[in-house]
Amino acid sequence: TALETNGVHLAGRHILITAGPTHEPIDPVRYIANRSSGKQGFAIATAAARAGARVTLIAGPVHLPTPEGVTRIDVQTAREMLSAVEQALPADAAIMVAAVADWRTADAADQKLKKDGSGQPAPLALVENPDILATLGRHAQRPALLIGFAAETQNIAGHAQAKLARKGADWIVANDVSGDVMGGDANTVQIVTTSGIETWPALPKGEVADKLIAKVADVLTPRSD
Ligand code: CTP
Ligand code: CA
Repeated sequence: TALETNGVHLAGRHILITAGPTHEPIDPVRYIANRSSGKQGFAIATAAARAGARVTLIAGPVHLPTPEGVTRIDVQTAREMLSAVEQALPADAAIMVAAVADWRTADAADQKLKKDGSGQPAPLALVENPDILATLGRHAQRPALLIGFAAETQNIAGHAQAKLARKGADWIVANDVSGDVMGGDANTVQIVTTSGIETWPALPKGEVADKLIAKVADVLTPRSD
């Protein structure tokens, strides 16, 4: 494959990837979500498969075709995503690219919520969703390499350092979303690890994916040359 020709080999390795948003139901016709397109996560799954890895892609609701050679599991909610991730273990590396909804409704309604004529909206009680990345960070089957993404609009490296520590991840790919990134085709990222920060130039999402998978392969299967 293309990446294998360039010396990136992940044959025999299992790479677990989350991508896209999650949808948290409010009632049968409404949900809480965010603007993730899933493109970056799907590009990473594509790159990992091209490098010869076995790839499990846990995808929230997105409008993207399944990359060749990738096992895709579709989910809607954060809790479904967590359970699919845990069922896919063990993995050599986990790359959590999904923009998981931070909150869900405390109690999704069985029937469509109706206006009651008072002009006052029904109150919407929210509870925090489980943190999938942090759960893996302290999991008995923690992947050897655990990578998170962090979309930030300011103090990018600082917030990423804090997330690295809080979630027990090895790397955070910090993503500057102050411009047009959500749904766009390019990404400016910094790779934040306990040993420092690498800044990459603005790149198409496919190139960010290839570079990240090459870096993953360097850790999991160091090149002999
Ligand atoms: N993440 C996760 N489960 C959640 C929330 C986040 O697995 N419930 C993961 C994301 O997939 C990403 C990383 O954690 O890899 C960072 O997500 P982010 O939303 O930036 O972090 P939060 O802890 O939710 O912080 P913030 O308040 O900035 O949203
Ligand atoms: Ca969040």
